[in-house]
Amino acid sequence: MTAKERILSLQNEVARHDKLYYQEAAPEISDFEYDRLKTELAQLEAEHPELAQTSPTLKVGDDRLDEFSSFPHAEPMLSLDNTYSQEELFDFDARLKRLLKIEALPYVVEPKIDGVAVSLTYQKGKLIRALTRGNGIQGDDITHNVLTIAAVPKSLSGKDHPDSVEIRGEIYITNAEFERINKEREAEELPLYANPRNLAAGTVKLLDPKETKKRKLSVVFYGLGACEPVLPFAEHAQVHPTLKSWGLPTLEKFWEASGITESWDAIEELDGLREQFTYATDGAVIKLNPLALHTKVGKTAKAPRWAIAYKFAAEQAETLLKDITIQVGRTGVLTPVAELEPVSLAGTTVSRATLHNADEIQRKDIRPGDTIVVEKAGEIIPCVVRVIPDKRSGNSTAYEFPKTCPACNTNAIRLPEEAAWRCPNPSCPPQIRRRILHYASRVAMDIDTLGIAVVDQLTEAQLCNTIADLYTLKEDDLVTLERFAPKSAQNLLKALEDSKANDLWRLVHGLGIPNVGSQSSKDLCKHFTSLEALQHATEADLLTIDGVGPIVAQSILQFFENPANQTLIERLTSYGLNTQAHQQAQGTQTLEGLSFVLTGTLPTLTRDEAKALIEKAGGKVVGSVSKKTDYLLAGEAAGSKLKKAQDLGIKIVDEDQLNQMLAS
Ligand code: IVH
Repeated sequence: MTAKERILSLQNEVARHDKLYYQEAAPEISDFEYDRLKTELAQLEAEHPELAQTSPTLKVGDDRLDEFSSFPHAEPMLSLDNTYSQEELFDFDARLKRLLKIEALPYVVEPKIDGVAVSLTYQKGKLIRALTRGNGIQGDDITHNVLTIAAVPKSLSGKDHPDSVEIRGEIYITNAEFERINKEREAEELPLYANPRNLAAGTVKLLDPKETKKRKLSVVFYGLGACEPVLPFAEHAQVHPTLKSWGLPTLEKFWEASGITESWDAIEELDGLREQFTYATDGAVIKLNPLALHTKVGKTAKAPRWAIAYKFAAEQAETLLKDITIQVGRTGVLTPVAELEPVSLAGTTVSRATLHNADEIQRKDIRPGDTIVVEKAGEIIPCVVRVIPDKRSGNSTAYEFPKTCPACNTNAIRLPEEAAWRCPNPSCPPQIRRRILHYASRVAMDIDTLGIAVVDQLTEAQLCNTIADLYTLKEDDLVTLERFAPKSAQNLLKALEDSKANDLWRLVHGLGIPNVGSQSSKDLCKHFTSLEALQHATEADLLTIDGVGPIVAQSILQFFENPANQTLIERLTSYGLNTQAHQQAQGTQTLEGLSFVLTGTLPTLTRDEAKALIEKAGGKVVGSVSKKTDYLLAGEAAGSKLKKAQDLGIKIVDEDQLNQMLAS
């Protein structure tokens, strides 16, 4: 491959990973692998500057999404140069010493929090807006989600606040909360988040703060952006106690060091302590302490010259890949799993690791019998990083993903837009078992007497092949099963009978429509109010629902088009299952407690109609914009009210957005 080809291929690869990391919060590779790609690209571009011109990687990664309004940062939010090597860290110090002609430089060493950067603007002590880093120049407005974090003060404590100040920090999700959410997702067979950072990144970009509230976000602050008037500080170390005195959550610990050797000691101490912190840390940030020196050394377009991140290498271990097994999910997805010779890694014994999908196995050329490297970085779920080719036996061949389902032998299929192979056989035993388990689970029909052991017995005895068969069970059938006393049989039958009256969203979720979780089921039922209406919904109807995009809509349409599912629903209905949404779900006041101001001409509604709709949903309409206004509903030719709302950072919506709010 020529240098040109390699540069182009690296540019494309980095751009793809940037999108996965910054916009989709679903990276496919570890930070270490990503940094390695970027370093190789930077080196090649330095050798071939003529090819670097078109590089898509010159800018800082961009997290902005179309659904959000973005606003400029008063001071750009830069990134940090980073290194994994002690030598390069000492080079950073040597460079600064040469530049500044100073013998020993004082530093502050801080934990590097592995979260999502945020910038809060306070004016006269009042919170005006919260922005993501965006492209560094402009960030997305995530105020609605930041307001769900109790630790973020709407007004700063104490007196004497700057007229306007940007406060910089990191939003994160604690390990405990991460595990809670992943457990819930596991129960719903939704894809798991690989690490707390991805979950935090996905959560700050939710459109509905009610959803955000269900996942507890946390935040910690470590710096200032623009500040007017400038605070009379001489050192960066003064920032932390000041932020604390304003009532903002700050770092658990930071170190002041008189030179780079003391900074290194602090980094090692941090490495020993960081496991006890509530946030995940992926390194240390070393910052020059005297602020006068920041101005002197300045910054590049991407990062300040007065700071560097030293990243801790992810913990890795070598072990034998004994086998690759295939798990069959409820919807037939075939997931490859690495079965490992147990190995100790980051405090736990690891015997299985995820391999994601067939493409990943092919890309990394992973073969059973290989010695492989497993890694647990911020990731709670270990992954296979690479194979050690030197330790491979001479006669192994590339792994072939099975062409048939390992459970029922049906030919596997792969839809063009999907990474996963699936078993298309609805009668595949592990799928039946998982479908019934999902139906009975707490997040669906909540039938607690129908646990794994009972489901296994029912499916093995072929008493249940579909969820509808549950409602044909008789006491006589059940008592023939091992360890099934008449009392247990009666309890199960009663629980099944009671489940018929469940709210409709539980049944809809229990049907197991791919890509439809419990929240989407609730949203769908609130909107359509009956199973019949949902069954006949068009794609356009479905797309009006917040949170239902083209993939979910297609999934719903395909599910109801399938004759087997139509029969299933007919049977469930004939057994007397409730197919209507409960009354209280329909009557919820979606705009309860929110105040609106109207301005300009709306495309279809008159002002009176808009006012009536808002009031019917529990909101109120007031005449003029103030800090207390929640939303400005703006149409064509909006005038001074729009300007005032923009100045106060009030959320501005149009008629379409109002309709979406009313429908949610
Ligand atoms: S200072 C001008 N300090 O790491 C640069 N950043 O990889 C200001 N981060 O964009 C950043 N912990 O989002 C700083 N103690 C810390 C940090 C920290 C985490 C994040 C921040 C930055 C990214 C760079």
